[in-house]
Amino acid sequence: MNLYERIPNNVNLSEDKKLQRALEKWLPNYLDWWQEMGPDGFQQKDVYLRTAISVEPDGWANFDFVKMPDYRWGIFLKPAAPDAKIGFGDNYGRPAYQEVPGEFRNSLRRIIVTQGDTEPASVEQQRELGKTCPSLYDLRNLFQVNVEEGRHLWAMVYLLQRYFGRDGRDEADALLERRSGNPDKPRILEAFNQPCDDWLNFFCFTMFTDRDGKYQLSALAESGFEPLARTCQFMLTEEAHHMFVGDTGLNRVVKRTAQLMKKGDVRELGGIPLEIIQKHINFWFSYSLDLFGGEISSNSADFFAAGLKGRYKEQEQYEDHILAEQNFTMKVVDEGQLKDREVPLRNALNEVLRGEYVRDCEKGLARWNKTLAEEGMSERLFLPSTRFHRHVGEYASHHFDIEGNLITAEEFERRKADWLPTMADREYVRSLMHPVIEPGKIANWIAPPATGIKGKPFEFEYVRL
Ligand SMILES: [Fe+2]
Ligand SMILES: [Fe+2]
Repeated sequence: MNLYERIPNNVNLSEDKKLQRALEKWLPNYLDWWQEMGPDGFQQKDVYLRTAISVEPDGWANFDFVKMPDYRWGIFLKPAAPDAKIGFGDNYGRPAYQEVPGEFRNSLRRIIVTQGDTEPASVEQQRELGKTCPSLYDLRNLFQVNVEEGRHLWAMVYLLQRYFGRDGRDEADALLERRSGNPDKPRILEAFNQPCDDWLNFFCFTMFTDRDGKYQLSALAESGFEPLARTCQFMLTEEAHHMFVGDTGLNRVVKRTAQLMKKGDVRELGGIPLEIIQKHINFWFSYSLDLFGGEISSNSADFFAAGLKGRYKEQEQYEDHILAEQNFTMKVVDEGQLKDREVPLRNALNEVLRGEYVRDCEKGLARWNKTLAEEGMSERLFLPSTRFHRHVGEYASHHFDIEGNLITAEEFERRKADWLPTMADREYVRSLMHPVIEPGKIANWIAPPATGIKGKPFEFEYVRL
């Protein structure tokens, strides 16, 4: 592990002069981007952050006070397994690719660029959030997520610059040029152009959109292109905390709302009504489902056949890694009606991955509903149908109600304010967002966390302002 180089790494960077030069040239542009688009107003503050210092499961991170621009963004890959093999598809059992297979160069570059683009995009979306943090604990978690998304960008840029030559370097530059929500140079995926300017959106984003990232990274962690697999395996270690922030953040909002419901009118008491929480779930869940791509996809079949992108836990949970004969049945709209259609399983792998994701989200819902039950409430939160409010795939050109029944465009228009956050809902949530920066204090609309970070109490001064 070369921790004390300009770019900390475990890929022997100092022995690859050409790559080292390329990355060192990219570094100042990255820092400019971080200053321009990273957390606004907190760059010179000391933040209690974890920094990756190793890829070992125990003790991979160090916790200490750091100013964000001094964070040690590095390149860490899980160590190579000797004799790694391609784990699925037409080349199952052959040696893993150590270089990019020529015929898949373009698709592989596209996969890496698309993943890479989401990392800086989320930092941009969250740039203003620090100014309205509900507590120092939450402020620290926001910044932890932000610096690690920055490191994930490094991870993807390493792959581009190391394995894709000139076009890889151009793509690495373009990753710093696009901007979330900018109509002239938007980020690639729509969920990453949506504003994330209040903390309810932030918790939903880390719960639902970061969780899509977990499933994409897990599928790529199975890749027969070994450098990509090893990169994603380590990113997943960091990603777990991001989803923890979203899941427990929403749980704390739900808990506080339930407490206020027992006292009276939640709005009058300055909390977030359950129905507004539900609408935010509907919004972010549906946008995040789109990130998995079309239900029926020849790309998914090609990537699987080539051994580039597998299924979630491909090695751990499946026996058949070829999938030559199997079929998958899904609902599609056919002549104005929902009908079953059978498609080759390889063409349905986006939908298979989406199914794993939905089951994972349901566990979050169960936790929040348990909180409601513990507070003595009979109300429950739920996930909308996966057909509701979709912009990608089979359901995109149709309209569905929250339960997934086909409805007309007019009916959707008429009822959408019941299902999705309205301007007034968003403004109301924004009206509650005032910074609480005294150690141990918390905003009125959210409950404090059960525990602090790394054994520290909630009252700890996680950010020195
Ligand atoms: Fe990430
Ligand atoms: Fe993340």
